[in-house]
Amino acid sequence: MSIRTLDDLLAEGVSGRRVLVRADLNVPLDKQTGAITDDGRIRAVLPTVGALVEAGAKVVVCSHLGRPKGTPDPQFSLRPVAGRLGELLGAPVHFAEDTVGDSARSTVAGLADGQVALLENLRFNAGETSKDDAERGAFADQLAAFGDAYVDDAFGAVHRKHASVYDVPARLPHVAGRLVLREVEVLSRLTGQPERPYVVVLGGSKVSDKLAVIEALLPTVDRLLIGGGMCFTFLKAQGLEVGTSLLEKDMVETCCNLIERSGGKIMLPVDVVAADAFAPDATHDTVRVDGIPSHRVGLDIGPETVAGFAAALSQAKTIFWNGPMGVFEMAAFANGTRGVAEAITKADAFSVVGGGDSAAAVRALGLDESSFGHISTGGGASLEYLEGKTLPGIAALEN
Ligand code: 3PG
Ligand code: MG
Repeated sequence: MSIRTLDDLLAEGVSGRRVLVRADLNVPLDKQTGAITDDGRIRAVLPTVGALVEAGAKVVVCSHLGRPKGTPDPQFSLRPVAGRLGELLGAPVHFAEDTVGDSARSTVAGLADGQVALLENLRFNAGETSKDDAERGAFADQLAAFGDAYVDDAFGAVHRKHASVYDVPARLPHVAGRLVLREVEVLSRLTGQPERPYVVVLGGSKVSDKLAVIEALLPTVDRLLIGGGMCFTFLKAQGLEVGTSLLEKDMVETCCNLIERSGGKIMLPVDVVAADAFAPDATHDTVRVDGIPSHRVGLDIGPETVAGFAAALSQAKTIFWNGPMGVFEMAAFANGTRGVAEAITKADAFSVVGGGDSAAAVRALGLDESSFGHISTGGGASLEYLEGKTLPGIAALEN
C-alpha cells in the first residue's frame, strides 16, 4: 500500500499547474431558503485547498451535492457552496455553471496561479455515477482534461465507485489530500488494535443500513449500544411491543439472531420517550420499553437508558459513535443524543464521531467539537471502512 500524498505533490512543485481536487462538499441545505445549514464539510477541505492556493496552483474543485439524477437540477446547484468556500478562503471562488461544458472550460482556462474554481455538481452528468465503465470513463476523460494532477480529498465519497472518485485517478498523477489522510489514519486506529474497552454507539433510523457494520463489529467490540429509530426493531426482536415506532418487520429475525450471537455485548434501551405524533409539540412521556402504548411512537431514548449508556461509555478507552439516538432536530427529543454525546466527551477515551448526521448533531446541539477525538466527514464511508470493505476511492489512490 503506497499512497502518495499532497505533500509529495507539493514537493514536486505545483506553481502554475492545474490541480483537480475531488472534494465532498455535499452539505445540508435548508429546504425553504436553500441556505447552507452546516458548513463542516467545506471547512474540512480548507487545509488541502489552502495549501494548493499558497503553492500557486490553479485549483479546480469538483464535488457532488445531493442525489440529482444525472441531469441539471437547480435545487442541487453548488453555487451557494462556491460563495461559502470563497468566504472561508478569503478570496473569490470562480463558479462554473456546468461541470465539463463551455462554462467549465472557460472558467478553468481563465484561472490565474493561486486561484480557485468550483465546477457545477458532478451528478448533473449521468457519467458520474454510471454502472457502465465506458460511460463513466468518457466522463472521467472530460474531467481529467481540467487537471495536470488529481487530489482526492472527498473522504465522504471514497466508498462510491464514481467517475470523479475512481476513474479520474487512473488518468492523472494522483495523491490523497489532507482530509482523506487524516480520516484513514484515525479510522485505522479503530480497525487495528483499539485500546479496550472499545464501545460503539449506533443510532439512526434503519437497521438494514447498519447490518453489515454490526456484523463486522460484533467480534471486535466490547459493547455495542443501540439507540435511535433502529432500536425498535431490536426491541421487537425481544418480544416487546413498540406501538407505532419505526419498525423493519423483515429485520426482526435478523436482530433476534444478532442479540443471541452477541454474547451480551448488545445493550438496548430500557426506557424511551413515546409521543402521540411525530411533531415537535407532540404530547410525550417517558415509558419503560415493556410499556410502550400501542398508539404512541418512540422518538428518543429515555433518561435511564442515557444513564446506562453513559456508564458503559465512562469505562471505554475507545469509542465510535454513528447515528443520533432520537429525533434531535426537535428539542423535546434531543436529550438522548445530547446525553450520549456529552458522555462521550467526558469519557477518558479516544472518540470518533462518524457520519454527516451525527457530526451535524454535535454542532447543532452546540457541543464542543474539540472535545471529541475526531469527527469524520464520512457517514457511509466511515462505516464501510470499519466493515473492512475495499473503498474504491482509496484503492484508486493505491495504484
Ligand atoms: C454523504 O453525504 O454520505 C456523501 O456525500 C456521499 O453521498 P451519497 O450517499 O449520496 O453518495
Ligand atoms: Mg450518505
